[in-house]
Amino acid sequence: MFDLKAYLKAKQQAINAALGKLWDNSEPYPTLLVQAMRYSLEAGGKRLRPVLCIAASEAVGGSEADVMPAACALELIHTYSLIHDDLPAMDDDDLRRGKPTCHKAFNETTAILAGDALQAAAFEVLATEGRNKRGDALKRLEVIYLIARAAGYLGMVQGQMMDISSEGKEITLGELERLHRLKTGALIEASVQTGAILGGGSSQEIAALGAYGRHIGLAFQVADDILNVEGTPEMLGKPVGSDRAHQKATCPSLMGLEQAKVRAGELIDSALEELRIFGKKGEPLAALAQYVVERTR
Ligand code: IPE
Ligand code: IPE
Ligand code: MG
Ligand code: MG
Repeated sequence: MFDLKAYLKAKQQAINAALGKLWDNSEPYPTLLVQAMRYSLEAGGKRLRPVLCIAASEAVGGSEADVMPAACALELIHTYSLIHDDLPAMDDDDLRRGKPTCHKAFNETTAILAGDALQAAAFEVLATEGRNKRGDALKRLEVIYLIARAAGYLGMVQGQMMDISSEGKEITLGELERLHRLKTGALIEASVQTGAILGGGSSQEIAALGAYGRHIGLAFQVADDILNVEGTPEMLGKPVGSDRAHQKATCPSLMGLEQAKVRAGELIDSALEELRIFGKKGEPLAALAQYVVERTR
Protein backbone atom coordinates (compact mmCIF):
# COMPACT_ATOMS: atom_id res chain seq x y z
CA MET A 1 0.00 0.00 0.00
CA PHE A 2 1.22 3.46 -0.91
CA ASP A 3 1.81 5.53 2.24
CA LEU A 4 0.35 8.94 1.39
CA LYS A 5 0.92 10.33 4.87
CA ALA A 6 4.66 9.71 4.73
CA TYR A 7 4.81 10.93 1.12
CA LEU A 8 3.00 14.18 1.96
CA LYS A 9 5.20 14.78 4.98
CA ALA A 10 8.43 14.29 3.05
CA LYS A 11 7.31 16.49 0.16
CA GLN A 12 5.94 19.20 2.44
CA GLN A 13 9.25 19.31 4.32
CA ALA A 14 11.23 19.62 1.09
CA ILE A 15 8.90 22.34 -0.21
CA ASN A 16 9.05 24.29 3.04
CA ALA A 17 12.84 24.14 3.02
CA ALA A 18 12.94 25.41 -0.59
CA LEU A 19 10.43 28.19 0.17
CA GLY A 20 12.54 29.31 3.12
CA LYS A 21 15.56 29.80 0.87
CA LEU A 22 13.81 32.13 -1.58
CA TRP A 23 14.26 35.36 0.29
CA ASP A 24 17.13 37.69 -0.25
CA ASN A 25 17.72 38.97 3.24
CA SER A 26 20.43 41.33 2.10
CA GLU A 27 17.93 43.68 0.45
CA PRO A 28 18.26 47.22 1.80
CA TYR A 29 14.46 47.67 1.92
CA PRO A 30 12.19 47.76 4.96
CA THR A 31 11.39 44.26 6.09
CA LEU A 32 7.71 44.74 6.98
CA LEU A 33 6.60 43.72 3.51
CA VAL A 34 8.74 40.59 3.53
CA GLN A 35 7.57 39.80 7.07
CA ALA A 36 3.95 39.88 5.91
CA MET A 37 4.73 37.75 2.84
CA ARG A 38 6.51 35.15 4.96
CA TYR A 39 3.90 35.31 7.71
CA SER A 40 1.23 34.02 5.35
CA LEU A 41 3.49 31.69 3.44
CA GLU A 42 4.89 30.06 6.56
CA ALA A 43 1.60 29.94 8.50
CA GLY A 44 1.09 26.35 7.38
CA GLY A 45 -0.95 25.11 4.48
CA LYS A 46 -1.07 21.72 2.86
CA ARG A 47 1.25 22.64 -0.03
CA LEU A 48 -1.07 20.68 -2.30
CA ARG A 49 -0.22 22.53 -5.50
CA PRO A 50 3.55 22.08 -5.19
CA VAL A 51 3.08 18.46 -4.10
CA LEU A 52 0.95 17.82 -7.19
CA CYS A 53 3.58 19.45 -9.36
CA ILE A 54 6.31 17.21 -7.95
CA ALA A 55 4.13 14.08 -8.12
CA ALA A 56 3.32 14.80 -11.77
CA SER A 57 7.01 15.20 -12.56
CA GLU A 58 7.79 11.90 -10.87
CA ALA A 59 4.94 10.16 -12.71
CA VAL A 60 6.60 10.98 -16.04
CA GLY A 61 10.08 10.01 -14.85
CA GLY A 62 11.27 13.48 -13.79
CA SER A 63 12.65 14.39 -10.39
CA GLU A 64 11.69 16.57 -7.47
CA ALA A 65 14.66 18.84 -8.12
CA ASP A 66 13.59 19.42 -11.75
CA VAL A 67 10.45 21.15 -10.60
CA MET A 68 11.09 22.48 -7.10
CA PRO A 69 11.44 26.17 -8.08
CA ALA A 70 8.27 26.02 -10.18
CA ALA A 71 6.52 24.17 -7.35
CA CYS A 72 7.49 27.02 -5.00
CA ALA A 73 6.22 29.58 -7.51
CA LEU A 74 2.81 27.88 -7.52
CA GLU A 75 2.63 28.09 -3.74
CA LEU A 76 3.56 31.80 -3.84
CA ILE A 77 0.68 32.49 -6.23
CA HIS A 78 -1.71 30.40 -4.15
CA THR A 79 -0.69 32.20 -0.93
CA TYR A 80 -1.14 35.59 -2.57
CA SER A 81 -4.64 34.53 -3.66
CA LEU A 82 -5.54 33.55 -0.09
CA ILE A 83 -4.30 36.85 1.37
CA HIS A 84 -6.43 38.80 -1.10
CA ASP A 85 -9.39 36.40 -0.78
CA ASP A 86 -9.54 37.11 2.97
CA LEU A 87 -9.52 40.92 2.66
CA PRO A 88 -12.56 42.88 3.88
CA ALA A 89 -13.38 43.78 0.27
CA MET A 90 -13.58 40.09 -0.58
CA ASP A 91 -14.51 37.31 1.88
CA ASP A 92 -13.63 39.37 4.95
CA ASP A 93 -12.23 36.47 6.98
CA ASP A 94 -10.14 36.70 10.14
CA LEU A 95 -8.61 33.23 10.29
CA ARG A 96 -6.39 31.47 7.76
CA ARG A 97 -4.09 28.50 8.16
CA GLY A 98 -4.95 28.55 11.87
CA LYS A 99 -3.70 32.11 12.36
CA PRO A 100 -5.10 35.63 12.05
CA THR A 101 -5.32 36.57 8.37
CA CYS A 102 -2.60 38.79 6.94
CA HIS A 103 -4.65 41.99 7.13
CA LYS A 104 -5.47 41.24 10.78
CA ALA A 105 -1.89 40.47 11.77
CA PHE A 106 -0.56 43.47 9.82
CA ASN A 107 -3.03 45.84 8.14
CA GLU A 108 -4.96 46.00 4.89
CA THR A 109 -2.40 48.00 2.96
CA THR A 110 0.38 45.63 3.92
CA ALA A 111 -1.77 42.59 3.07
CA ILE A 112 -2.61 43.94 -0.39
CA LEU A 113 1.02 44.70 -1.09
CA ALA A 114 2.24 41.37 0.32
CA GLY A 115 -0.12 39.61 -2.08
CA ASP A 116 1.06 41.72 -5.01
CA ALA A 117 4.68 41.04 -4.14
CA LEU A 118 4.14 37.28 -3.76
CA GLN A 119 2.63 37.13 -7.22
CA ALA A 120 5.53 39.03 -8.78
CA ALA A 121 8.00 36.89 -6.84
CA ALA A 122 6.45 33.76 -8.32
CA PHE A 123 7.20 34.91 -11.85
CA GLU A 124 10.67 36.05 -10.80
CA VAL A 125 11.38 32.53 -9.51
CA LEU A 126 10.07 30.95 -12.72
CA ALA A 127 12.06 33.28 -14.96
CA THR A 128 15.25 32.86 -12.91
CA GLU A 129 15.09 29.13 -13.58
CA GLY A 130 14.76 29.83 -17.29
CA ARG A 131 17.87 32.03 -17.17
CA ASN A 132 19.87 29.47 -15.19
CA LYS A 133 18.90 26.41 -17.20
CA ARG A 134 19.01 27.66 -20.76
CA GLY A 135 18.80 24.19 -22.29
CA ASP A 136 15.31 23.96 -20.89
CA ALA A 137 14.33 27.54 -21.64
CA LEU A 138 11.51 26.72 -24.06
CA LYS A 139 9.84 24.32 -21.66
CA ARG A 140 10.18 26.87 -18.91
CA LEU A 141 8.64 29.56 -21.10
CA GLU A 142 5.68 27.26 -21.78
CA VAL A 143 5.22 26.81 -18.05
CA ILE A 144 5.35 30.57 -17.40
CA TYR A 145 2.66 30.99 -20.05
CA LEU A 146 0.45 28.27 -18.56
CA ILE A 147 0.75 29.57 -15.01
CA ALA A 148 0.16 33.20 -16.03
CA ARG A 149 -2.99 32.20 -17.90
CA ALA A 150 -4.24 30.03 -15.05
CA ALA A 151 -3.67 32.79 -12.50
CA GLY A 152 -5.12 35.72 -14.36
CA TYR A 153 -8.20 37.02 -16.12
CA LEU A 154 -8.79 33.73 -17.94
CA GLY A 155 -8.31 31.72 -14.75
CA MET A 156 -8.20 32.29 -11.01
CA VAL A 157 -8.78 36.05 -10.92
CA GLN A 158 -11.74 35.70 -13.29
CA GLY A 159 -13.13 32.98 -10.99
CA GLN A 160 -12.72 35.25 -7.97
CA MET A 161 -14.55 38.01 -9.83
CA MET A 162 -17.40 35.63 -10.65
CA ASP A 163 -17.47 34.34 -7.06
CA ILE A 164 -17.84 37.83 -5.62
CA SER A 165 -20.34 39.01 -8.21
CA SER A 166 -22.55 35.96 -7.68
CA GLU A 167 -22.97 36.61 -3.95
CA GLY A 168 -26.67 36.84 -3.09
CA LYS A 169 -27.67 35.77 -6.61
CA GLU A 170 -29.11 32.56 -7.94
CA ILE A 171 -26.83 30.93 -10.44
CA THR A 172 -27.15 27.64 -12.29
CA LEU A 173 -25.07 24.57 -11.58
CA GLY A 174 -23.35 25.08 -14.92
CA GLU A 175 -22.36 28.60 -13.94
CA LEU A 176 -21.16 27.39 -10.54
CA GLU A 177 -19.02 24.72 -12.13
CA ARG A 178 -17.43 27.27 -14.45
CA LEU A 179 -16.72 29.56 -11.49
CA HIS A 180 -15.14 26.68 -9.53
CA ARG A 181 -13.04 25.56 -12.48
CA LEU A 182 -11.66 29.08 -12.76
CA LYS A 183 -11.17 30.19 -9.18
CA THR A 184 -9.64 26.93 -7.94
CA GLY A 185 -9.40 24.39 -10.74
CA ALA A 186 -7.22 26.43 -13.10
CA LEU A 187 -4.21 26.73 -10.76
CA ILE A 188 -4.45 23.08 -9.69
CA GLU A 189 -4.56 21.96 -13.31
CA ALA A 190 -1.60 24.22 -14.11
CA SER A 191 0.32 22.73 -11.15
CA VAL A 192 -0.04 19.23 -12.54
CA GLN A 193 0.75 20.34 -16.11
CA THR A 194 3.85 22.18 -14.90
CA GLY A 195 5.18 19.01 -13.29
CA ALA A 196 4.38 16.96 -16.39
CA ILE A 197 6.13 19.38 -18.74
CA LEU A 198 9.25 20.08 -16.67
CA GLY A 199 9.53 16.41 -15.74
CA GLY A 200 9.89 15.61 -19.45
CA GLY A 201 6.50 13.99 -20.13
CA SER A 202 5.39 13.04 -23.64
CA SER A 203 2.48 14.97 -25.17
CA GLN A 204 0.18 12.03 -24.38
CA GLU A 205 1.30 12.04 -20.74
CA ILE A 206 0.97 15.82 -20.45
CA ALA A 207 -2.57 15.66 -21.87
CA ALA A 208 -3.61 12.83 -19.52
CA LEU A 209 -2.22 14.66 -16.51
CA GLY A 210 -3.90 17.88 -17.61
CA ALA A 211 -7.25 16.04 -17.65
CA TYR A 212 -6.46 14.51 -14.25
CA GLY A 213 -5.71 18.02 -12.94
CA ARG A 214 -8.98 19.41 -14.32
CA HIS A 215 -11.01 16.73 -12.56
CA ILE A 216 -9.31 17.00 -9.18
CA GLY A 217 -9.24 20.80 -9.42
CA LEU A 218 -13.01 20.93 -9.58
CA ALA A 219 -13.36 18.19 -6.97
CA PHE A 220 -11.11 20.18 -4.65
CA GLN A 221 -13.51 23.14 -4.61
CA VAL A 222 -16.55 20.90 -4.21
CA ALA A 223 -14.82 19.36 -1.17
CA ASP A 224 -13.91 22.84 0.11
CA ASP A 225 -17.59 23.85 -0.04
CA ILE A 226 -18.58 20.66 1.81
CA LEU A 227 -15.98 21.34 4.51
CA ASN A 228 -17.34 24.87 4.90
CA VAL A 229 -20.60 23.22 5.98
CA GLU A 230 -19.37 20.14 7.85
CA GLY A 231 -15.95 21.13 9.17
CA THR A 232 -14.87 23.06 12.25
CA PRO A 233 -12.48 26.03 12.44
CA GLU A 234 -10.16 23.90 14.62
CA MET A 235 -9.96 21.27 11.90
CA LEU A 236 -9.65 23.63 8.97
CA GLY A 237 -7.76 26.58 10.42
CA LYS A 238 -10.29 28.88 8.75
CA PRO A 239 -13.88 29.90 9.44
CA VAL A 240 -16.83 27.65 8.60
CA GLY A 241 -20.36 28.64 7.69
CA SER A 242 -19.01 31.74 5.96
CA ASP A 243 -20.29 30.70 2.52
CA ARG A 244 -23.84 30.73 3.85
CA ALA A 245 -23.36 33.96 5.70
CA HIS A 246 -22.13 35.58 2.47
CA GLN A 247 -24.91 33.96 0.44
CA LYS A 248 -22.31 32.31 -1.77
CA ALA A 249 -23.48 29.88 -4.37
CA THR A 250 -21.85 26.56 -3.46
CA CYS A 251 -22.23 22.94 -4.43
CA PRO A 252 -24.05 21.98 -1.20
CA SER A 253 -26.38 24.99 -1.49
CA LEU A 254 -27.29 24.21 -5.11
CA MET A 255 -27.44 20.40 -5.06
CA GLY A 256 -27.53 19.42 -1.39
CA LEU A 257 -24.72 17.90 0.68
CA GLU A 258 -25.24 14.30 -0.36
CA GLN A 259 -25.33 15.06 -4.08
CA ALA A 260 -22.26 17.26 -3.70
CA LYS A 261 -20.40 14.28 -2.22
CA VAL A 262 -21.53 12.06 -5.07
CA ARG A 263 -20.31 14.66 -7.57
CA ALA A 264 -16.91 14.88 -5.87
CA GLY A 265 -16.60 11.09 -5.98
CA GLU A 266 -17.44 10.98 -9.69
CA LEU A 267 -14.80 13.56 -10.46
CA ILE A 268 -12.18 11.55 -8.58
CA ASP A 269 -13.14 8.42 -10.54
CA SER A 270 -12.66 10.34 -13.78
CA ALA A 271 -9.28 11.58 -12.54
CA LEU A 272 -8.18 8.02 -11.68
CA GLU A 273 -9.09 6.87 -15.21
CA GLU A 274 -6.52 9.29 -16.61
CA LEU A 275 -3.76 7.70 -14.52
CA ARG A 276 -4.06 4.26 -16.09
CA ILE A 277 -1.24 4.79 -18.57
CA PHE A 278 1.17 5.51 -15.71
CA GLY A 279 0.84 2.18 -13.91
CA LYS A 280 2.70 2.12 -10.59
CA LYS A 281 4.28 5.52 -11.24
CA GLY A 282 0.80 7.04 -10.97
CA GLU A 283 0.25 5.77 -7.40
CA PRO A 284 1.09 9.01 -5.59
CA LEU A 285 -1.22 10.97 -7.89
CA ALA A 286 -3.99 8.41 -7.35
CA ALA A 287 -3.62 8.72 -3.59
CA LEU A 288 -3.56 12.52 -3.87
CA ALA A 289 -6.82 12.43 -5.85
CA GLN A 290 -8.51 10.49 -3.05
CA TYR A 291 -7.02 12.87 -0.51
CA VAL A 292 -8.59 15.85 -2.30
CA VAL A 293 -12.07 14.64 -1.34
CA GLU A 294 -11.33 12.72 1.85
CA ARG A 295 -9.23 15.42 3.53
CA THR A 296 -10.43 16.98 6.76
CA ARG A 297 -8.53 20.24 6.32
C1 IPE B 1 -7.91 26.92 0.02
O1 IPE B 1 -6.87 26.18 -0.54
C2 IPE B 1 -8.50 27.84 -0.98
C3 IPE B 1 -9.13 27.21 -2.12
C4 IPE B 1 -8.66 27.38 -3.32
C5 IPE B 1 -10.31 26.42 -1.95
P1 IPE B 1 -6.11 25.08 0.32
O2 IPE B 1 -7.10 24.24 1.04
O3 IPE B 1 -5.14 24.37 -0.57
O4 IPE B 1 -5.35 25.95 1.39
P2 IPE B 1 -3.96 25.72 2.16
O5 IPE B 1 -2.89 26.04 1.18
O6 IPE B 1 -3.90 24.31 2.63
O7 IPE B 1 -4.01 26.71 3.29
C1 IPE C 1 -10.63 30.68 -2.52
O1 IPE C 1 -11.92 30.29 -2.53
C2 IPE C 1 -10.13 30.68 -3.94
C3 IPE C 1 -8.96 31.50 -4.13
C4 IPE C 1 -8.29 32.06 -3.17
C5 IPE C 1 -8.52 31.71 -5.48
P1 IPE C 1 -12.76 30.34 -1.17
O2 IPE C 1 -12.96 31.73 -0.73
O3 IPE C 1 -13.95 29.51 -1.42
O4 IPE C 1 -11.77 29.54 -0.20
P2 IPE C 1 -11.59 29.67 1.38
O5 IPE C 1 -12.74 28.88 1.94
O6 IPE C 1 -11.60 31.09 1.75
O7 IPE C 1 -10.29 28.98 1.64
MG1 MG D 1 -13.48 33.45 -1.77
MG1 MG E 1 -12.56 32.68 1.09
